[in-house]
Amino acid sequence: MKQDLLTFANWTPEAMESLLKLAVEIKQAPASYSNVLKGKSIVALFEKPSLRTRVSFDIGINKLGGHMVYLDVQSGKLAGREDSVDTAANLSCWADAIVARVFSHSTLETYAEAANVPVINALCDKYHPCQGLADYLTMFERFGKTTGLTMTYIGDGNNVTHSLLIVGALLGCNQVVITPKGHEADASIVAHAKALAEKTGATIVESNELEAANGTDVIYTDTWLSMGDDTPLETIKATFMPYQVNEALMEASGASCVMHCQPAHRDLEITGSLIDSDKSLLMQQAENRMHGQNAILTQLLSA
Ligand code: CP
Ligand code: NVA
Repeated sequence: MKQDLLTFANWTPEAMESLLKLAVEIKQAPASYSNVLKGKSIVALFEKPSLRTRVSFDIGINKLGGHMVYLDVQSGKLAGREDSVDTAANLSCWADAIVARVFSHSTLETYAEAANVPVINALCDKYHPCQGLADYLTMFERFGKTTGLTMTYIGDGNNVTHSLLIVGALLGCNQVVITPKGHEADASIVAHAKALAEKTGATIVESNELEAANGTDVIYTDTWLSMGDDTPLETIKATFMPYQVNEALMEASGASCVMHCQPAHRDLEITGSLIDSDKSLLMQQAENRMHGQNAILTQLLSA
């Protein structure tokens, strides 16, 4: 029975913990995993731009002994030529897995249904699970644990927020989500994350007030405008500027580290000086994208 990775929402805390440990192991001893994907080909299909995800999958797959075929659906040449069901069924005739970055989560569900090989979510409108895994791997490396820590996400409640909530709940990490009014995380995903958190003892708090960050270990932020959102920057700046992650906020909250999935917008959601400071975990997060994804590929494809 093939296993997809669309959200982590149906995983157990034990399975999540063991995937995190596998990522640590692969990072520490890559040579032991260099044949995991020997003779295997993975198609990576992108409806949206990408730097980190595309390159880290390509190089990561190569390090595991496999081969990646990149499919550019953004150019328009492939978009709309056939039904998603047929795309996925055809791809699974040749590929051993499909990695897909799509606008709508429902496209991934269609792919997963139609393909008889694993489908991996490389970002959609609702989730970014590969990012979530890399981020908790980064926290684990920084603090030696994830359980009992507190991560505070500040900004727009989006796909990254949702995956941080789910993966964090499974790994016992307390979450505070601070957004402007009207930009909260999806209520049903927050409710699901709270149900998962009950199994690990983690807490999830939502607020519109920056004071809710006081006492946190880590502050995390992401773009105020996700890909596909064409709201003019000037329109949202007035709402979001008070939520900028900057040195004063780090000081007031007591957070020792700052995180961002990138691409980052210097001096908008985060100050450039904070990105460049010794509190920044941004490059470690980027590096860990590959190790986390290689753990996912190893788990789904070496069974
Ligand atoms: N963090 C992330 O997914 O970056 P890309 O959009 O560049 O892949
Ligand atoms: N929330 C952002 C994440 C980019 C990696 C977006 O969807 O554009």
